[in-house]
Amino acid sequence: MRLLVTAGPTREHLDPVRFLSNRSTGKMGFALAQCAAVRGHTVTLLAGPVALPTPPGVQRVDVVSARDLLFAVEANLDACDALVMCAAVADWRPKQASAAKLKKRDMSPSLALEPNPDILATIRSRKGGRIFVGFAAETGDPRPEGRRKLADKGLDLLVANDVSQPDAGFAADTNRVTLIPRNGAEETLPLLSKLEVAERIVAWVEKTARAQTH
Ligand code: C5P
Repeated sequence: MRLLVTAGPTREHLDPVRFLSNRSTGKMGFALAQCAAVRGHTVTLLAGPVALPTPPGVQRVDVVSARDLLFAVEANLDACDALVMCAAVADWRPKQASAAKLKKRDMSPSLALEPNPDILATIRSRKGGRIFVGFAAETGDPRPEGRRKLADKGLDLLVANDVSQPDAGFAADTNRVTLIPRNGAEETLPLLSKLEVAERIVAWVEKTARAQTH
């Protein structure tokens, strides 16, 4: 199969040295890309700013902002069979970005923001027979929000994780997730390494693709 995986945060620049972002390190998305490549799939990895090496055999494209990521997803969508949206896309960006560093004396204590495009919503009409997987990072029980996002975003699988625990979510090497499929039973996995979680997700994608062709 051909997998398109997004990973890491996006950065929304206010000027060349300041930005809005989040705590995503890209570990989960890079584990997914690595695992899919090891299993023989063709993998394109769209990566926000992270400090991780490219897994062997993976074609990597670096992006910065949510809009960069949207353009990269749009450009690579036709050539994929499954999209795994693991990136933690910033919801908002500064309304104005300056090409030159802003002087403190010229800045106001409040920041005007505007919403970023929702990537999954924007490309939804181009889904066709592709498998779409999304992630939801929540503090507390992630399942209710996960179910809502699965439906709202028209996904085949939503991977929900509670990021309030130190052994799961941002920056950890382990993760505790619930797989919420559109069809079928939810499955809460035990604490696993991100590579093991990635294997379960890639196996789910493979199984779903096989079922579609029969
Ligand atoms: O941020 P949120 O919890 O809504 O993210 C849920 C899913 O939607 C994730 O898979 C994320 O990559 C995706 N997303 C997106 N475009 C955004 C925000 C999130 O496609 N602007």
